Amino acid sequence: MGTPMKSLIGRLVTLRPIDVERDAPEWYEAMQEPEMHLWTGNNIPIDVDEVKDVVLETYANHPEIFSWCIRESKTDKMVGIYWIGVPFISNEQRLVTFDAQRIAKPYWRKGYTREARSLVYDYAFTDLGVEEIRASAWERNTNSCLSMESAGFELVRLYPRFNPKYDSDLTEVEYVLRRAKWQQLNGRLS
Ligand SMILES: CC(C)(COP(=O)(O)OP(=O)(O)OC[C@H]1O[C@@H](n2cnc3c(N)ncnc32)[C@H](O)[C@@H]1OP(=O)(O)O)[C@@H](O)C(=O)NCCC(=O)NCCS
Repeated sequence: MGTPMKSLIGRLVTLRPIDVERDAPEWYEAMQEPEMHLWTGNNIPIDVDEVKDVVLETYANHPEIFSWCIRESKTDKMVGIYWIGVPFISNEQRLVTFDAQRIAKPYWRKGYTREARSLVYDYAFTDLGVEEIRASAWERNTNSCLSMESAGFELVRLYPRFNPKYDSDLTEVEYVLRRAKWQQLNGRLS
């Protein structure tokens, strides 16, 4: 697992499987931006090998995720990484229990994340038959919370969780995006 079943092609972005060797130098550059890491488990990498052997290798081959490299459709420049949990059945419902993305800072709030989300959610809800997607973010990660809320995610609960980077208990927000809500917001028929 770990490899998505197909590439997803949009107007601004194209999502294709991660190519660890090829994507590492570009992703190393993108990850030099400290703001990228304020609310994630990542840090600024020391060298391209760390990005290759630790960061991208994990996304590309992790057995519990489907992951993509997001490229700008026009230039083929690397925009970011996207992954979702491999769907599983719980209480007769097909669920995805996590959804995350790392977008290079120059591409924030320019429509790239919005379109990447749209491609992934159409794929999950339609091709994979998923009924709901759950995702969490630190409450103080305003960009992530507002980005999810703008896509239609709804609050499930707030709970305290230890954050090693801040060495304290912080609030995490759990969200859900249901298929019916996604279809309603995007004019898709059920
Ligand atoms: C979190 C992240 C993916 C969000 O992507 P983004 O491109 O910045 O945000 P989006 O384009 O999806 O935002 C969609 C909408 O949400 C709202 N929004 C997002 N961030 C906002 C902010 N800081 N202030 C106000 N509104 C905001 C806006 O309505 C925005 O639409 P608009 O730009 O047309 O006004 C990106 O900032 C990122 O990769 N950050 C670093 C890694 C990270 O924290 N990942 C998430 C871990 S859970």
